[in-house]
Amino acid sequence: KRVGVLISGRGSNMRALVERAQGYEVVVVASDKPDAAGLAWARERGIPTFALSPKEIGKPAYEAALDRALRECEVELIALAGYMRLLSDEFVANWRGRIVNIHPSLLPKYKGLHTHARAIEAGDRQAGCSVHLVTEELDGGEVLGRTEVPILPEDTPDTLAERVLAAEHELYPRVLSEFVSR
Ligand code: GRF
Repeated sequence: KRVGVLISGRGSNMRALVERAQGYEVVVVASDKPDAAGLAWARERGIPTFALSPKEIGKPAYEAALDRALRECEVELIALAGYMRLLSDEFVANWRGRIVNIHPSLLPKYKGLHTHARAIEAGDRQAGCSVHLVTEELDGGEVLGRTEVPILPEDTPDTLAERVLAAEHELYPRVLSEFVSR
């Protein structure tokens, strides 16, 4: 399967998807942030990139251009990886069942932002990450796979984020491989 990865920043999950690809191929990396660090890495690897800021042209025009770029690359599946922008209902409907995301919590717990601080605050003993299908509901689609990691007594949101991120890098490529072969 031909996969397009959408990022907004560092892109460490995108790198894991590229480096551990099995049964799929990352054919384009796209970003809503033209200065996203992950874009430079993808370019160095010879992976086509697409970058456009919605601020400059407005969200509908941005999404139309993104959609066009993905289709030109014959993308069959979109993987969100630290993509910090909500896709419109229309975009999601056009790609129904073909957008996946990784979220740094054990869904359905802690949708949205600041997941690690919220898990620590709640006194949870376990945190983790989830890969799920993207629907119109934020972080709400079918969960395809999850990994649990312990929360240690001395954890801060940053130390927990680091542990969860390592689990994300293992989970995302594995679940994507499973998903494309199901
Ligand atoms: C990851 O923790 C992801 O789950 C969250 O944002 C972070 C992105 O990191 N949504 P990276 O850009 O993949 O390094």
